[in-house]
Amino acid sequence: MTRLPEGARFATRAVHAGLDPDPAYGSVIPPIHQTSTYAQVAPGEFVEDYDYARSANPTRAALERALGELEGGLASCFASGMAATHALLTAHCRAGDHVLLPRDLYGGTYRLVDKVLTHFGLSYDMVDQTDLDALERALRPETRLIWVETPTNPLLNVVDIGGVVARSGEALVVVDNTFATPVVQRPLELGADAVVHSATKYLGGHSDVVGGAAVVRDGALHERVRFVQNSVGAIPGPLDCFLIHRGLRTLHLRMAAHGENGGAVSEFLRRVDGVDDVRWPGFGGMVSFRHPQAGRIAAGTTIFTLAESLGGVESLVEVPQAMTHQSVEGSAAAVPPDLVRLSCGVEAAEDLVEDLRRALGS
Ligand SMILES: Cc1ncc(COP(=O)(O)O)c(C=O)c1O
Repeated sequence: MTRLPEGARFATRAVHAGLDPDPAYGSVIPPIHQTSTYAQVAPGEFVEDYDYARSANPTRAALERALGELEGGLASCFASGMAATHALLTAHCRAGDHVLLPRDLYGGTYRLVDKVLTHFGLSYDMVDQTDLDALERALRPETRLIWVETPTNPLLNVVDIGGVVARSGEALVVVDNTFATPVVQRPLELGADAVVHSATKYLGGHSDVVGGAAVVRDGALHERVRFVQNSVGAIPGPLDCFLIHRGLRTLHLRMAAHGENGGAVSEFLRRVDGVDDVRWPGFGGMVSFRHPQAGRIAAGTTIFTLAESLGGVESLVEVPQAMTHQSVEGSAAAVPPDLVRLSCGVEAAEDLVEDLRRALGS
């Protein structure tokens, strides 16, 4: 890998992480290894661990090195954020184990635990993780894992990761770092055991790829995650890995621009009559607010596209209750129907504010 000086800053590491010039031709950006298999010199004799591309692929390995470097752990990449979540949960938990979920979280995470993993003997409780006493009270002897999402999707609550770690007992602390990214928050440095990303969002950053990653501190857990990755086979293709890796190289710049726009948009919304409960965690592009005409507003913007997902350079708007969070309806994690969630892109802040002003009719 490009040798960086000791103590190189995050921006420098983001640009160079995981990149080795191609040994064959010296291309600064290594090629996309679009292959399913590798020629062997003799039966069972192959280069490093490259025997079959479900097990390993150099383009994926480069992305895994990069993400491991930026989060400070050992990374494995997956076909989606949900595949990464599934791998981590199944690598660590067994039938009879109990997990603690946050009371507001991405609906798909809840659905995976509630509708799939409970069939295999996992039980769970949901707890407001901003209340650390409540979290501690919810721990049971069989609690194997605490799932943290911070900021939460879609209510943008911020959880004290160090505080959760201090109260976690024997349970593994896993943080979904999709909204903050390692630019803002590196959970492993705060004592968490593992990090999960929907790389579909800020890491990829251009709304052109679905992917995920699990980054862990412990070598033995990493091996178990890798085992699930190979056994289940929910791996990302080489082109997807290339695109996410390319996204990483501008992550710090994009996060700064998203933050500028998130701040400007939330400041504007706080002054609009009829808009309530404006939330912005102080970084990034995610903003939420409540308005009795949530659906009309979300359908009335021009620059903000009405669509699920987030974290791309283009701005998106959605109504979580009707779109991304239907799977939590009727549960403790249900979201209010008048909530609007914005993913502020990197367009000019003035244009985003004007777009919202028109849609709100203010
Ligand atoms: C916080 C969070 N975690 C995980 C996921 C799941 O990621 P993916 O859609 O890449 O499977 C999402 C998707 O929206 C998310 O917002």
